Amino acid sequence: MIDYHIATKHHFDHYAKGPETIDWDSQPNPFRRFEGAPVVELPLIDTDDGIPYSTMYDEKQSPASHPWNLSTLSALLLYAMGLAAWKQYGSSRWSLRCNPSSGNLHPTETYVLVQGFTALTDGLYHYEVEHHQLELRCEFQNNLQDSPHVWIGFSSIDWREAWKYGERAYRYCQLDVGHAQAALALCARTLGYTAKMVSTLTQAELQSILGLDRSQDFFTNEQESADLLLYLSHDQTNTDSQITDFIQLTQKGVWHGHANRLDPRHFYRWPIIDSVSKAANKRQPTPPTKLLSHHSYPPPAPAAAHALSQQSAWRLFRQRRSAQSFDPRGRLTQPDLYRLLDRILPRPSVPPWSSLATAHSVHLILYLHAVDGLTPGVYLFIRNPEHLDALKAAMKSDFAWEPVTSPDIPTHFLFFRLLTANARRAAKQLSCHQDIASDGIVAFSMLAEFLNPIQAAAWHYNDIHQEAGAIGQMLYLEAEAIGLRGTGIGCFFDDPVHQLLGLSTLDWQCVYHFTVGLPIVDTRLITLPPY
Ligand SMILES: Cc1cc2nc3c(=O)[nH]c(=O)nc-3n(C[C@H](O)[C@H](O)[C@H](O)COP(=O)(O)O)c2cc1C
Repeated sequence: MIDYHIATKHHFDHYAKGPETIDWDSQPNPFRRFEGAPVVELPLIDTDDGIPYSTMYDEKQSPASHPWNLSTLSALLLYAMGLAAWKQYGSSRWSLRCNPSSGNLHPTETYVLVQGFTALTDGLYHYEVEHHQLELRCEFQNNLQDSPHVWIGFSSIDWREAWKYGERAYRYCQLDVGHAQAALALCARTLGYTAKMVSTLTQAELQSILGLDRSQDFFTNEQESADLLLYLSHDQTNTDSQITDFIQLTQKGVWHGHANRLDPRHFYRWPIIDSVSKAANKRQPTPPTKLLSHHSYPPPAPAAAHALSQQSAWRLFRQRRSAQSFDPRGRLTQPDLYRLLDRILPRPSVPPWSSLATAHSVHLILYLHAVDGLTPGVYLFIRNPEHLDALKAAMKSDFAWEPVTSPDIPTHFLFFRLLTANARRAAKQLSCHQDIASDGIVAFSMLAEFLNPIQAAAWHYNDIHQEAGAIGQMLYLEAEAIGLRGTGIGCFFDDPVHQLLGLSTLDWQCVYHFTVGLPIVDTRLITLPPY
């Protein structure tokens, strides 16, 4: 994993290996379907029927749990992983989804295991995004449960991403999975459920439950790699034994459908992605997420306060977009900045953190351009107090480490000004020269504890990227809720970021960039409804 990470760094004088030219006409099909599998139409659910976004994070009063049925399952999939819109410009037409994806390539596929529904056969389904349908992959006889239960599985089609991004694509797939986890966990919350990572499975078992080891159902070179399984719970029920049953049930079940061909050519081969995927896929059962609750850090979050956040959470999930350019005049108030940052602290009882394998490995470097009353510069926001000393020791000794003080700042914040500077040019340069990093209000580098966890287990490489992706998803939504917009930035120059911070070892590595600002909306694009 470590060799892969080093090999796929972008440098000022050369980028990680990727295709030299891109033939847009040969883009792999973004929609997986299983031909011949029985189809279940899902009802379309009105965006305004969701609970207000502002109530989602209330730790004292969780949203009431809706009983599982076809409508609630539909809302879950629609507003987490469904289409958000079709866009058209001239003769080009493309779809966008509630979950973002690097290059809009969408390598993440969604599977649903259901039990005990009156309107659905017990079994494994694939979520067919384009038409908002379920495809029955495997039906099994199961008389164990009378009440409905739902599990969501994610898998990645790495080469769908590698088609454009070459060797660095594996990182992007894992970031995308993190975004999807957060999107799903947040949508589950609106229905009164907590998405919890199932941590009792090996990778091989997960692959088998999701039917991804059935090579006879996929074209050569077109297989998917299982990422994780989430259980949607509304109480403390332990479903670990049911999961073990699934292994046998799916082995004995009746399977349907053959995966469609996504790319007839497959010119692009990046063997390093196969090796890294193999290394990460040795995942063994791990203890559930170790969150920081035992330190009483962080304390409960305040409710969302901005007017836009009073609207339906589902509307906000669908409206979330990546900004393509920013108005450099955009500004943020300190209370809005602090609420945005507070929302990404790993609180165990609010989503998306319990859906992740790790939730407290990643910290934020801020290139702060335009926040009222704060000197522009480079700042550090610590998400796990246990890392403060190690970060201090690892970073440049001449950083100011000046705690940000303000009447508005929450007392539990570990937020430091490292450097006073106009950091617009640096943020742009470090983010592969993209203007979105300099023209926004604040840009971020996500810095992860790297060597220790990965030496302990190779698959923590995926966990760290998923955590960063989930943070990105929260930044997207919080920006949208205050009338701003975010954009994930997978393209950044790795070691120049480390050099700026004085990090000379692999103990800490930058895994993702992000930016938030006042968007300039491209009015030339026509927006069409998703379904
Ligand atoms: C992991 C990740 C990396 C991304 N990297 C970039 C980037 O470097 N530059 C950029 O302009 N957009 C980037 N994006 C934004 C995507 O292009 C965007 O999500 C996609 O086009 C879909 O649009 P939407 O977010 O509006 O649904 C990234 C998104 C993700 C999730």
